[in-house]
Amino acid sequence: MTRPQKDSTPDQAEITDDSAIPDVDGESGVDRETATGSDHEPAETDPGSDTEEGSSTSGLGGTIRDRVESQLNEKDSTTSVFANKDLVHPDTIIDANRIVGRDEQLDRIIELLLPAVKGGRQDNILQFGPSGTGKSLIINATAEEVATLCENRGVDFGVIRINCQRISSEDKAVYAMLQDVSEKTGAEIGIKKQGTATSDKYDRLYEIVNERFEAILFILDEIDYLTGNSNDDEPDYSRLLYQLSRATAEGDIEGRSAVAALTNDTQLIQKLDGRTASSFNPDNVVFPDYDATQIRAILEHREDAFRDGVLSGDVIPLAAAFAAQDEGDARKAIDLLRKAGEMADREGSGTVEERHVRTAQGKLDVDQAQKTINGLSAQKKYTLYALTSVAVHATRSLDSIPGPVAYEVYSYVTDSIDAVTKSDDSFRRYAKELASYNIISKDRSGRGRGRGVHNEYAFAIDPETVEETIERDSRITETEQDSLQLVVESQLDEFNST
Ligand SMILES: Nc1ncnc2c1ncn2[C@@H]1O[C@H](COP(=O)(O)OP(=O)(O)O)[C@@H](O)[C@H]1O
Ligand SMILES: [Mg+2]
Repeated sequence: MTRPQKDSTPDQAEITDDSAIPDVDGESGVDRETATGSDHEPAETDPGSDTEEGSSTSGLGGTIRDRVESQLNEKDSTTSVFANKDLVHPDTIIDANRIVGRDEQLDRIIELLLPAVKGGRQDNILQFGPSGTGKSLIINATAEEVATLCENRGVDFGVIRINCQRISSEDKAVYAMLQDVSEKTGAEIGIKKQGTATSDKYDRLYEIVNERFEAILFILDEIDYLTGNSNDDEPDYSRLLYQLSRATAEGDIEGRSAVAALTNDTQLIQKLDGRTASSFNPDNVVFPDYDATQIRAILEHREDAFRDGVLSGDVIPLAAAFAAQDEGDARKAIDLLRKAGEMADREGSGTVEERHVRTAQGKLDVDQAQKTINGLSAQKKYTLYALTSVAVHATRSLDSIPGPVAYEVYSYVTDSIDAVTKSDDSFRRYAKELASYNIISKDRSGRGRGRGVHNEYAFAIDPETVEETIERDSRITETEQDSLQLVVESQLDEFNST
C-alpha cells in the first residue's frame, strides 16, 4: 500500500543510518560531488598511493590510522556547513546577547542574586516550567555574570552546582556538592564518599564554604529527581532543601547563602515537608513554553553556528515550526538544527536545506515512536500490529485502513498467538490512544445511506518501522506471515464488497 504521504517521509529511506555516509576521500578539499557519487562502487585501492591519497576508506581494508585520519579530515574539512558547532549544542552556556524572550525571568533572577554582590539577605529561588524553557540557561548565565561582578568588586562569591538527574540520595547529593566545590576551589574533599555520615559531609561542605566564600549560591538542577528511598515519607530533595536553607540561619554557613532549585514539576512545593516549605520559602520564577516565533528568534541568534550562506532561508522557520508543535522546547529546536546540519555534512551537500530538517525531524519522530511502542501494553501492541499488518501486507493501494478490517485482522492475530481477543469497542479505544501518541491518525468515515460510519486509520510514521519495532519484543512474531497476508486480503475484499 502507499501510505498517506506525510511531508517528512520522502528522504527517510535515503539516509536511515550511518551506513549511508558517503565514502569520503582522505584528502580535505576533495570534490564532494564525486565523493557522494562513488557510493556504490567499491573504491579502487592502489596500495602505492596510500599515504598520499589516503584512499582506503571503503568498507573493507584501511588501517585504523587511515580511518582516524579520514574522519579527522572530514571534520576539519572546509566543506562542513558548521563554523562553530558549539553554538548549536544544547549544553553550551551562551552569551546574554543570544538569549531571547526571557526578559522577565532574567530581570527577576538578577534582582534575586544581587544581594550576593551588594550584601543583604539573599532569597531562595524556585524555577519551574517544562523542559527546554531556559531554566538552566538563565540561572547559569546569570550566576556567571554575578560571579564576574563580584570578582571585580573583591567579593568572594561562590556557586556550587549539581544536577540531580543521576543522583539517587541526599547523601550522594551532598558529596556531589563537595566534589564540585573542591574542583572549583582546589580544596581537599577530605572525607570518604562511603562510610561517612551525611551530617559529616554537610559539615565538611560548610567548612570549605566558610573558608572560601562570603556569599554562596547552591544551584540544584532537576531537583525533583532526587527522591531517595521511596519508602520514606519525606523525599530526599525536601531534606536537602531543608538542610541548605537552615544552614545560614543556624550559623553553619557564616556568610550569605541562597538556594536555586530547578524543576519541571509544578507541584514540587506541595510535596515538600511542612518545615522545609517554610524555611526554603522561595521566590517562584515561572518558565512558560516558547511559541514558534520565540523559537525562531532563538535559532536566528545562533545562525553563526553555520558558515555564511549555507543555511537556506526556510530551514530555521521550519525547524522552529516543528519544535513549536513539539511543546515549545528550545532544546529540541537546537538539536533539530544541529542534526539537519550533520545530515547535510554526511551528504556532503555543502548547504542545509529544508529536506535535511524534515529528515532529521522524521528520525526524531521515529525514535520517539519506538520508545512509545516499546512501552505499550500487550493489547495495544496487538491493536497496532493489526493496523501495521494491513498497511504492510495489502497488495492494493490504500489511502487509509478501514477500522472493521483492522479489527478482523486483530482478532486473527490474537487468536493465532492464544491471546485474549477483546471487543470491537476495546479495539477502538486502544486505537484512539495510539492516535493520541501520534503513531497513527484516526478519521470517521461514512459509507453511505444506512450503512453507518466507521473509523479509518492512517500511519503518522512508517508502518514498516512500527512493525519491526513490535516484532522485536513480543510473541507476535509467532504469527504466520503468509496466512496473515491472506487474511488481510480477504478482509479487504469482503469490506469492499459490502
Ligand atoms: N531564551 C532562550 N534564548 C536562547 N536559547 C535558549 C533560550 N531558552 C533555552 N535556550 C536554549 O535551549 C536549550 C535548553 O535550555 P535549558 O536552559 O537547558 O532548558 P531547561 O533547563 O528549562 O530544560 C539550551 O541549549 C539553551 O541554551
Ligand atoms: Mg535544565
